[in-house]
Amino acid sequence: MDLRSYIRDIPDFPKEGIVFFDITPLLGDGEAFAAAIDSLYEKFKDTGATKVLAAEARGFIFGAPLAYKMGIGFVPVRKPGKLPYNTVSVTYDLEYGSDTLCMHEDAVAEGEKVLVIDDLLATGGTAAGMLKLVQNVGGEIAGLGFLVQLGFLDGKDKLENQGYSCLLTL
Ligand code: PRP
Ligand code: ADE
Repeated sequence: MDLRSYIRDIPDFPKEGIVFFDITPLLGDGEAFAAAIDSLYEKFKDTGATKVLAAEARGFIFGAPLAYKMGIGFVPVRKPGKLPYNTVSVTYDLEYGSDTLCMHEDAVAEGEKVLVIDDLLATGGTAAGMLKLVQNVGGEIAGLGFLVQLGFLDGKDKLENQGYSCLLTL
């Protein structure tokens, strides 16, 4: 299936000069959405991961169904002030600003294998932040996966040689 045809390019959103790659047409098509989750599953099913970790909001859309399909747990990474228990946090740069991500301090056990998922790799700040959250509590990265990577940005440079897979490069 040509997943690219389900991604809509919106110029100058959320700021002038940014092209926003809108995945909502893909989400709105049952077959395309299932094909995306199934492809991620095929890439990561044999990694030995026992948790999928993903950040709100768009990361949840791919991370949660993948965790369900893999039969493993899901760790929500959230913006500050949203998680009710003790948290660990990282602050990171975005393509259009900066942000902080938080995770419950007991969400990942020491030595646990964690699969980190997001919809899109742009500057790599979010992914690097999620990797750091896992590593800071002693977890191991079992894999890193995206629906889309923006090949014209240097996202992979922020990932410090961490290997990753993506379904599409734009
Ligand atoms: C988007 C996207 C990725 C991140 C990628 O999330 O879902 O998580 O940006 O950009 P980066 O590689 O430059 O970090 P955003 O922070 O816009 O939040 P959202 O999921 O709530 O829309
Ligand atoms: N997240 C960060 N940069 C983005 C972009 N250009 N399109 C969609 N999501 C993004």
